[in-house]
Amino acid sequence: MSQPTIESILQEKRLFQPSNEFSQNAHIKSMADYQRFYDTAKANPEQFWANLAETELEWFQKWDTILDWQPPFAKWFVGGKINISYNCLDRHLTTWRKNKAALIWEGEPGDSRTLTYAQLHREVCQFANVLKQLGVQKGDRVGIYMPMIPEAAIAMLACARIGAPHSVVFGGFSAEALRDRLIDAQAKLVITADGGWRKDAIVPLKEQVDKALADGAVPSVENVLVVKRTGQETYMQLGGRDHWWHDLQKEVSADCPAEPMDSEDMLFVLYTSGSTGKPKGVVHTTAGYNLYTHITTKWIFDLQDTDVYWCTADVGWITGHSYIVYGPLSNGATTLMYEGAPRASNPGCFWDVIEKYGVNIFYTAPTAIRAFIKMGEQHPNGRNLSSLRLLGTVGEPINPEAWMWYHRVIGGERCPIVDTWWQTETGGIMITPLPGAISTKPGSATLPFPGIIADIVDLEGNSVPENEGGYLAVRHPWPGMMRTVYGDPERFRRTYWEHIPPKDGKYTYFAGDGARKDEDGYFWVMGRVDDVLNVSGHRLGTMEVESALVSHPAVAEAAVVGKPDDLKGEEVVAFITLEGTYQASEELSKELKQHVVKEIGAIARPGEIRFTDALPKTRSGKIMRRLLRNLASGQEVSGDTSTLEDRSVLDKLRQGT
Ligand code: WT7
Repeated sequence: MSQPTIESILQEKRLFQPSNEFSQNAHIKSMADYQRFYDTAKANPEQFWANLAETELEWFQKWDTILDWQPPFAKWFVGGKINISYNCLDRHLTTWRKNKAALIWEGEPGDSRTLTYAQLHREVCQFANVLKQLGVQKGDRVGIYMPMIPEAAIAMLACARIGAPHSVVFGGFSAEALRDRLIDAQAKLVITADGGWRKDAIVPLKEQVDKALADGAVPSVENVLVVKRTGQETYMQLGGRDHWWHDLQKEVSADCPAEPMDSEDMLFVLYTSGSTGKPKGVVHTTAGYNLYTHITTKWIFDLQDTDVYWCTADVGWITGHSYIVYGPLSNGATTLMYEGAPRASNPGCFWDVIEKYGVNIFYTAPTAIRAFIKMGEQHPNGRNLSSLRLLGTVGEPINPEAWMWYHRVIGGERCPIVDTWWQTETGGIMITPLPGAISTKPGSATLPFPGIIADIVDLEGNSVPENEGGYLAVRHPWPGMMRTVYGDPERFRRTYWEHIPPKDGKYTYFAGDGARKDEDGYFWVMGRVDDVLNVSGHRLGTMEVESALVSHPAVAEAAVVGKPDDLKGEEVVAFITLEGTYQASEELSKELKQHVVKEIGAIARPGEIRFTDALPKTRSGKIMRRLLRNLASGQEVSGDTSTLEDRSVLDKLRQGT
């Protein structure tokens, strides 16, 4: 059950075809259909996207220019006016969907709520008026730090409605991590809850917000809005900073027309880890993102009007933004939101939810699938999962064994699986099967979505031959692409557009993943090639964890690497040298792990801390992480060690000192 290796997936020759029944009812019904879309789009990408923008979305005003590409800065549908909240809500109210369930929510303790399109629209309009009343204006950034409750989606849509870009921060991040992100985004207001349920315990979110804002650390924040979710006693600051959501929500009108936004107005900023210390604020804008998430949701999840669609991500990640909220709602779908997580006390909770609501489409992560395998087949086998017709996976490479288990135990050998490769930066899914058209191979994300010109290249930007490893790259801009790093356009250029040098004015997007293409043109994504770890499908920068560690007084130097892990994909291993007066101990090791949790959040907790006298470095002082990776996973140190400054460091590390 380990990560796929080149050897294991090269041997993967199984091919799974969708059933005739599935294909006949699908939006994209055959390989010939896919090929036609793909070829048309490749011949004229701009026209392809413009046609879809025209037919799939409602505009207040049509665009003048489809694409203004001044590499690496793209503008799509320039001159157009549109609002994504309008496309997700208002336009459905004049159809039969008005009283269709838009959002089905299941809380961890078993409480639940369903909001129809009309009800969701009303809540969003009211809350948009609450924001306005508190002085939030078009262009102001709003922080959202919420559990998985309907108000999280309502808050996002309300921000979009009035043109205030949101910045959702995952509720599992610590107060420190929240503070850094609020400062970078200069948020004017924060929306949170008293708490959320997580594995049978309350996560006190408002308390974290108070810590993040303490001592005027984030001067831009003027107000905090608090949803009452868990109901425990919660401190509310005197003097008007803090407000209960429900108090203000009842005082406002439900009339709030959607603001006509420019296509390129910022919709949100979402922070993600990179290979350097500070998380990047990934900026997405309005029209292109709306179109891209809309059409990918429709074709990849093959949405039909009666479907109940469930994506298990958290709204704090891009998957939650694109495939719980915006993509499904723009399509008028029923999207399910679940607050809980599989846990020892309720290992079958996901399957209960599927049975209870008759879920048809289920989208989750390989790390969750591996956890289910470990919990045992008896849990899914004991539930009725016959409503399922399509499965999806995202977040990391899926090993063929996990794929086969998902196919057999959850999919009953009848559901196609879409293994979807994409990133926070790409806005939506880029490489994926279209389930009625493309046959699947376990472990492969298969083929690029129509309009996406993906390739495997070397560092000069040349395509590499089939079945040879290289860097995953994209050759042409697409509507869902990130527009910039918030406040740092040069970092945007450096990180994504200069690893592969532009040639003859042509720019190539560097994704940071290693991959290869097989003889059928199928993509096999191997994982990150930079200093980014993937722990349980969450992205973590090694430098980010290192800076957290060195902020502890005992730590002189830290080097963080990933070690393959059966469940999480990768686990954090930290090599530490101590300041003079400190002694290595079990206790200190625990303290340092806890320190990382405090600085970043539980997702970054090192699985292992190794104390050492010195770290292996090159003569120019660069830590040789490659060697540490070998050591962490118990492998022999391979490759060139000639650049090592002091070979005895390596010998000592081998001996475990
Ligand atoms: C990185 C992006 C975008 C949704 C969740 C993660 C890895 C994502 C796959 C897949 C192999 C995958 C890549 C990518 N990744 N999906 N289907 N197969 N690897 O978003 O946090 O921006 O991370 O996740 O390494 O670069 P993210």
